[in-house]
Amino acid sequence: MKIVVIGGTGLIGSKLVTKLGEHGHEAVAAAPDTGVNTLTGEGVADALAGASVVVDVSNSPSWEDAAVLEFFQTSTRNLLAAETVAGVGHHVALSVVGTERLPDSGYLRAKVAQEKLIEGSAIPYSLVHATQFFEFVAGIADGATEDGKVRMAPVLFQPIAGDDVAQALGRIAVGSPLNGRVELAGPERYRMDEFFRKVLSESNDPREVVTDEHARYFGTELTEGSLVPAGEAILGETRYADWHGQARDYPVSQATG
Ligand SMILES: NC(=O)c1ccc[n+]([C@@H]2O[C@H](COP(=O)([O-])OP(=O)(O)OC[C@H]3O[C@@H](n4cnc5c(N)ncnc54)[C@H](OP(=O)(O)O)[C@@H]3O)[C@@H](O)[C@H]2O)c1
Repeated sequence: MKIVVIGGTGLIGSKLVTKLGEHGHEAVAAAPDTGVNTLTGEGVADALAGASVVVDVSNSPSWEDAAVLEFFQTSTRNLLAAETVAGVGHHVALSVVGTERLPDSGYLRAKVAQEKLIEGSAIPYSLVHATQFFEFVAGIADGATEDGKVRMAPVLFQPIAGDDVAQALGRIAVGSPLNGRVELAGPERYRMDEFFRKVLSESNDPREVVTDEHARYFGTELTEGSLVPAGEAILGETRYADWHGQARDYPVSQATG
């Protein structure tokens, strides 16, 4: 099966391309570096020719409110139009648990816009909502740092390893379209402030973690359950304590709310 992975050179995309290839699929990594730009449309039609499935794990290079909205809206529109022409039978997109519960975050508003375009198109789809990646934990701490202190709300937090996200996405991509959503999360649930206090202290990070129920997460206040699955979810196997991956650099300072 030919499966095009938009954002196939990124954190999740590169893992997914490898896993699909190991299972005998023709997995194509599509990204600006491989000549495919969903924002301008360059190379998209050629990449999609003969594809059965498209998995969109791309991300905006800028997290500034207007730029990220423009990225997810324009690239999703371009992609869905090209998929219609190519006869693609399944569009899979990776989004974030709680998008619709956190409208004060510009990044998450952009993800909601992306989801609405997918749900409103005629192409069969699967929307996969994941919790925060282990690789994003350092970025979350940086995004929450003010005057050298990390401000965290005492809410539920259930991060997942990027490898586990890629594994679940691969299974969903080769299955029948859900025409709905599924949630993915890590195997353990924490209090966000306690999790960061422990993780920073274990990595000898000198920043103090301050518990603040009004602390903002990329521009939005959180409630007890806003970052964790609301119901049944697919759980990754990797525990944070057993994870040996590396942090990914994200443009967190641009996310304004
Ligand atoms: N971070 C989290 O904790 C989290 C949690 C849940 C869901 N998600 C979602 O997971 C998805 C993937 O995240 P990630 O961390 O794997 O992203 P990432 O490592 O930043 O990779 C982004 C990918 O998108 C590509 N890309 C950028 N601009 C493009 C364009 N114009 N056309 C085509 N491709 C383009 C990049 O290519 P270049 O490298 O060539 O620019 C790269 O391959 C995102 O949609 C995010 O919303 C993230």
